Amino acid sequence: MTRLKVLSVVGARPQFIKAFPVSKALRREHDEVLVHTGQHYDESLSGVFFDELDIPKPDYNLGVGSGGHAAQTAEMMQRLDTVIADEAPDVVLVYGDTNSTLAAALVTSKREPRLAHVEAGLRSHNWEMPEEVNRVLTDHCSDLLFAPSESAASTLEAEGIHDGVYVTGDVQYDAILAVRGAARERSTVLEELGLRDGEYVLATVHRAGNTDDPARLEAIMTGLGDADRPVVFPVHPRTENALKAADLWTRVAEDENIVLVDPVGYLDFVRLLDGAERVATDSGGVQKEAFYLDKRCVTLRDETEWVETVDAGWNTLVGADTDAIRTALQSTDSLPDKPSLYGDGTAAQRIVEVLSADTEQHTSTRR
Ligand code: UD1
Ligand code: UDP
Repeated sequence: MTRLKVLSVVGARPQFIKAFPVSKALRREHDEVLVHTGQHYDESLSGVFFDELDIPKPDYNLGVGSGGHAAQTAEMMQRLDTVIADEAPDVVLVYGDTNSTLAAALVTSKREPRLAHVEAGLRSHNWEMPEEVNRVLTDHCSDLLFAPSESAASTLEAEGIHDGVYVTGDVQYDAILAVRGAARERSTVLEELGLRDGEYVLATVHRAGNTDDPARLEAIMTGLGDADRPVVFPVHPRTENALKAADLWTRVAEDENIVLVDPVGYLDFVRLLDGAERVATDSGGVQKEAFYLDKRCVTLRDETEWVETVDAGWNTLVGADTDAIRTALQSTDSLPDKPSLYGDGTAAQRIVEVLSADTEQHTSTRR
């Protein structure tokens, strides 16, 4: 067996979580160089995940930080180019749809290593979302595309991507299965916040389309405030800034129904999800995680990439419509039987097997 050298690029909160099961599976038999672009840098958005998930410290932190899309992506590209040239890995592995994903994809596509994309084939069909641009371009540059579902693979096929597509399931399912027990045993977040299992809503909001539009942000906050049970709201810094800029921060902080907290680590977040009566979110990852933990999800967007959860009747799209949010938060409609979506919790191992077989084949072709 050829020992692989994989250079994994992460940069934002969900990528640390997605990379955690893959890194673990990879390092059993292969070598990994972990590169953190520095897109997220606050302890609560970055450091905490490395500590509690026991992810090895990044070999490189490019320290790019925040900025406009062009400046941030360009800075990452320049710094990544040097690292990829110096390390000469067999494969560069990228996750999801952030600017860190796109930067690594563009650089790698003009260099020797193979490019592999985890979470390929997802589409919102909303070209206003920076993430849609990032994921479409990344897919079209990739040599290996790891799709979480058959429908994601069909999307790639429909876009003319016929080779290198593998349906592996979702690595975030692997991740949540790995920590759910530990979250129940070790997290004390419910006690700290004075919450009881099954008696609160867990909310997150950070999508640019919501935070950067004060009218949408206000409509969402009003809807959450009207819930008939407490709403725990770990606030992303982008959202805190937006609430302050829109003069909504004090109102939300003083709303007796909303429990504002800083972003929490993964164990605490999974514990909060596990204990929630339902979830309200505009996050991509949280929609799936709600489904995995048998929670109804109210999605604060007009469309989703995770269409199967909506089709299955477990996820309701309400946009930023206060009345629709209020109604969905109070709905007592019974939930249909839950289908199995997005794999069986072994996506990481499958990804490693494909990477290994692909490198073996390419090394022998090159010889
Ligand atoms: C990014 C991703 C988004 C993903 C999200 C996960 C892009 C275009 N967006 O959005 O797809 O869902 O991460 O959380 O890649 N900030 C801090 N501390 C930090 C990081 C950011 O205060 O450690 C603040 C800064 O004011 C920054 C803003 O948050 O300008 C936005 O950060 P950025 O990384 O650009 O985008 P996110 O909204 O986090
Ligand atoms: N998450 C977390 N703490 C929080 C909020 C979210 O650990 O306070 C985790 C959550 O479990 C999920 C991931 O972060 O795995 C989702 O990240 P985010 O919503 O920022 O990004 P998206 O999935 O929308 O790209």
